[in-house]
Amino acid sequence: MNILVTGGAGYIGSHTIIELINNGHDVIIIDNLSNSSKEAVTRTEKIVGKVLTFYEKDVRDKQALEEIFSKHQIDGVIHFAGLKAVGESVKVPLKYYNNNLISTVSLLEIMESHDVKQLVFSSSATVYGDPASVPIKESATLPAKVTNSYGQTKLIIETMLMDLVITNNDWQITALRYFNPIGAHESGTIGEDPSDIPNNLMPYVSQVAVGKLKELSVFGNDYPTRDGTGVRDYIHVADLAKAHVAALSTPATPNKYRAINIGTGKGTSVLELVNAFEHASGVKIPYKIADRRLGDIAECYADSSLAQSILGWQAQKTIEDACADSWRWQSANPNGYKG
Ligand code: NAD
Ligand code: UD1
Repeated sequence: MNILVTGGAGYIGSHTIIELINNGHDVIIIDNLSNSSKEAVTRTEKIVGKVLTFYEKDVRDKQALEEIFSKHQIDGVIHFAGLKAVGESVKVPLKYYNNNLISTVSLLEIMESHDVKQLVFSSSATVYGDPASVPIKESATLPAKVTNSYGQTKLIIETMLMDLVITNNDWQITALRYFNPIGAHESGTIGEDPSDIPNNLMPYVSQVAVGKLKELSVFGNDYPTRDGTGVRDYIHVADLAKAHVAALSTPATPNKYRAINIGTGKGTSVLELVNAFEHASGVKIPYKIADRRLGDIAECYADSSLAQSILGWQAQKTIEDACADSWRWQSANPNGYKG
């Protein structure tokens, strides 16, 4: 299939392109490079051994989309493009509503007019808010509002997609609700490259390991968890990438909304992740216990049985694999794609 990959220069997009190509698909990438680098595309090309079709364009630009859809025969779309920094989204909500919502509406309108109805959308476990129980099932009631504007855009987009499938226009839509993506391609040549001080645990730990940051602050050790620190479902980005290929090859029933958790089903605490990273890298991670981070929850991990039964997908890689791969990427590229 010819797959349009929005946000294909980004962290998850670049890894997914490798899996798409390895499974016989062709890709057309659109990315405005607002949170990524052309170098990621160049390195992805090296991994897959072919030149990729890349448009440096904004998904909100309907004229650019129109040209791309007119020029290429597109069979399906994976929509990664979006802004994702939770803290920033609370400070500048309109930037997030503008970018994430307008790009999605523009994309859906152009898809509809070109009769391209197969979509895989990057959603997030953030749509569950503070879950009533773990592991979280897709059938959990979604809150009307989550605490940050980033998460709210995901919730609004999912609502929009649910409305779209009930128009009976043969849309085949899958929202993949990612838990916590970590790790990097096994080559160590592509990986997560935050433009600022990382907010998320794994990039923070790996930047401490490489000496760019002094020490990790562990946000709270008084949660009702096995060691008091927050528990999350860390999923290797290569496994996550494979879930997209599975979603395309087992498409949703037309006119039936499909949301699927993509996680390992296993919770790991902050201290367990730090231990696994130390083990994989051989580097000691200095840390201090700090206050809880506002908006954090104690535990969040997936019931991933639906992905197994519908997509025939389950995570293969371990936390140790992910730590080893993150370390390979970070140690070889201490400044990310900037060299
Ligand atoms: P990323 O920032 O690395 O990739 C997103 C890409 O989209 C970037 O390359 C950016 O330049 C591009 N982009 C943003 N707005 C655009 C626009 N208007 N037009 C064109 N390109 C645009 O992020 P990622 O980690 O690869 O995440 C991919 C998707 O998965 C996002 O939608 C994100 O919200 C979602 N997601 C990510 C995580 C995570 O922890 N990484 C978790 C859950 C969901
Ligand atoms: C965060 C976002 C979530 C988003 C997800 C993936 C918040 C409140 N939530 O989730 O909406 O979908 O990223 O992008 O930002 N931790 C530390 N020290 C650090 C960083 C993190 O102790 O420096 C802890 C956190 O308290 C948490 C765990 O590590 O217990 C994971 O944090 P993080 O990687 O930021 O992911 P989430 O909080 O799950």
